[in-house]
Amino acid sequence: MTAPPQGHARVRIWDAPTRIFHWAIALLIPFLWWTAEEERLDLHIPAGLTMFGLILFRLLWGLVGSSTARFVSFVKGPWTVARYLAGRASPVIGHSPLGAFSVVAMLSALAAQVGLGLFASDEDGLFSGPLAHLVSYETSETLTDWHDRLFDLLLILIGLHLAAVLFYLIVRRRNLVLPMVTGAGEGEDAAMPMRPAPAWRFWIAATIAAGAALWIGGAFA
Ligand code: HEM
Ligand code: HEM
Repeated sequence: MTAPPQGHARVRIWDAPTRIFHWAIALLIPFLWWTAEEERLDLHIPAGLTMFGLILFRLLWGLVGSSTARFVSFVKGPWTVARYLAGRASPVIGHSPLGAFSVVAMLSALAAQVGLGLFASDEDGLFSGPLAHLVSYETSETLTDWHDRLFDLLLILIGLHLAAVLFYLIVRRRNLVLPMVTGAGEGEDAAMPMRPAPAWRFWIAATIAAGAALWIGGAFA
């Protein structure tokens, strides 16, 4: 193995929950797409509820998780982004101030997509999201329309995301994918190391997220 360049050391960047969350959603998106296209709503709805649980977990983990997963650690104002672009920002472990924009955009779009799906229904009324009965048929139709349209935006954001990862790999010669797999990568010496969250916080966040998904899905009815 080649040694990291001077001024760089191998450090932990992403904790296991963030990595598992990432690869789970990356697998679920094509599945949700396929099941929607093939009108396999018997599979789309449970997969959508799994996505709901994952997104809720990530939002909670963004509040109480390890330092690099927390929103306060990477959501920065425009000045920090400008300093980063000018190469004058302090070194960071985790999402860069610019990358954070795409992370926030993707998480928001995913949360909205899941929220709309809960109220969506198919044309013949055979399958519907578990909360569709709370709104009128017309409202559910409109929300289904938005559910369909927002997916196109989601695809654009994912396309940009993959392009950015490729750009870093080819132009900047920095592999961001490996740390998302193993959790560790190169960090600049001056950067703060990742501070892991205690396991009990994971279990509480995961229980709340799974419980909410099961409850909305009607498992306790
Ligand atoms: C449907 C597909 C995908 C979606 C929706 C998605 C979404 C996301 C999100 C939300 C994050 C932020 C992680 C967090 O803090 O929770 C992220 C990070 C990341 N994703 Fe993806 N992703 C997808 C596919 C991929 C694929 C296929 C790759 C690799 C080829 C990839 C590589 C990465 C990397 C390297 C990061 C960390 C970026 C950084 O260092 O700041 N993603 N992705
Ligand atoms: C990120 C998560 C999701 C993605 C990417 C997604 C994607 C899609 C897409 C592309 C369609 C096709 C719309 C059309 O062409 O008519 C669709 C339809 C649908 N989705 Fe989702 N969905 C997600 C989450 C959910 C959730 C959580 C539920 C409910 C639990 C849900 C329920 C439905 C229903 C009932 C339809 C049927 C609409 C129809 O047949 O016209 N989806 N979804």
